[in-house]
Amino acid sequence: MQEELKIPRHIAFIMDGNGRWAKKRLLPRKVGHREGVAALRRMIEECDKAGVGMVTFYAFSTENWTRPQEEIDALFKMVSEFADKYLSDYVKRGYRIMFMGDLTKLPADTVAALKKILEAAKGNNGMIVNIALNYGARDEILRAINTILASGVREVDAQTVSDCLYTAGLPDPDVIVRSSGEKRLSNFMLWQAAYSELIFVDDYWPDFDEKVFLRILQEYSKRDRRYGNVRRID
Ligand code: FPP
Repeated sequence: MQEELKIPRHIAFIMDGNGRWAKKRLLPRKVGHREGVAALRRMIEECDKAGVGMVTFYAFSTENWTRPQEEIDALFKMVSEFADKYLSDYVKRGYRIMFMGDLTKLPADTVAALKKILEAAKGNNGMIVNIALNYGARDEILRAINTILASGVREVDAQTVSDCLYTAGLPDPDVIVRSSGEKRLSNFMLWQAAYSELIFVDDYWPDFDEKVFLRILQEYSKRDRRYGNVRRID
């Protein structure tokens, strides 16, 4: 008999392996990223079907600027097209859309496409789709520290910091999934990951589909989340 699946409130994906997926097929890296966008769309569908409340994707890190300019340009072109073509559709479905990271450094046309989506999604209250762009957890924590210092408070607790992050008021990820067999967080949601389950999947990101998603839910359902306690909490 199939064990009952636990559905995370918030699932976050570190999308890795687009380049290797393409290399294996002797294709340009750009094609790997294009297939990566298709995988991202499949995961949004799966999360919606499963009843996940929030899904986060690590699309571009503060370290990714060191990539060849041609690849950076291609990636942001894909982000703009994704916003026009698909995010607008997600907005119509009622999803809440958010972007975390320093968007001021992004190409102007990409920023314009994202702003249009944010405007259109105002008032939605469905699943939260969060896309990390020019995001780095250390940057995020430093921004929070500077905001707190500027406010003049003398004592800080964990809630004070959480309230100054991009994810203020939202649940921490119950599970963080990284594709392509790499086992590290790479400056992703370091504060929010304090109690997240970590799942490392060998498949390259463009191969993520319904079956991989089910495997993730099965693995997550087996984990015993104790939050430092001795007994199982959920
Ligand atoms: C990691 O693979 C992937 C990225 C750095 C970019 C992820 C971007 C997308 C899936 C597409 C654009 C996003 C949106 C929101 C439309 P890699 O290139 O590091 O792969 P490798 O480690 O195999 O070289």
